[in-house]
Amino acid sequence: MERDIERVLYTEEQLCTRVEELGRQIAWDYRGKNPAMVCILKGAVMFYTDLLRAMPIHLSMDFMAVSSYGKGTKSSGEVEIRKDLSTSIEHRHVIIVEDIIDSGFTLTYLTRMLAARGAESIKICALLDKPSRRAPGITLKADYAGFEVPDAFVVGYGLDYAEAYRNLPYIGVLKPEIYENN
Ligand code: IMP
Ligand code: MG
Repeated sequence: MERDIERVLYTEEQLCTRVEELGRQIAWDYRGKNPAMVCILKGAVMFYTDLLRAMPIHLSMDFMAVSSYGKGTKSSGEVEIRKDLSTSIEHRHVIIVEDIIDSGFTLTYLTRMLAARGAESIKICALLDKPSRRAPGITLKADYAGFEVPDAFVVGYGLDYAEAYRNLPYIGVLKPEIYENN
């Protein structure tokens, strides 16, 4: 697995430091608001569990699974809900926790959908942001972002290529030959 990685972008230690910072900041901003923390499965799961443990406030947890990519490395623009929330978000302050914003299609779609369900507020917390890759017409921004990343396909700490590499403890750039052969 490790030999498919071209270079390490963020070490375990760098991730830990930044995620704790984000957690403390969000906790401060949402003190007394009991936010509904929505994890977008599966990519955000490592980030989500570390982030929430750095937030010493009341909050609730819920999970959603969506798919826009299939096996490739480019977004199709279509978003499919594979697993929906199990609790109501009506009148709640929602924070969507996502692994990475690329074209922005997934979160644009989700934000609209959750707003239509009567959330009091919706903000986006993404571990990684690739602003250079936004699709034309998509103006979405992360309210909280861990790191801005260059335009390369990255894996690890939850992020996958074809379901592999999620368990790497760091984030690295995948060697292009791994996905170019598919
Ligand atoms: P968007 O809809 O194009 O913004 O894509 C968001 C989703 O695409 C993320 O939740 C990831 O699952 C996936 N994705 C985008 N870029 C990468 C990457 O570099 N590595 C792994 N997954 C990625
Ligand atoms: Mg993915």
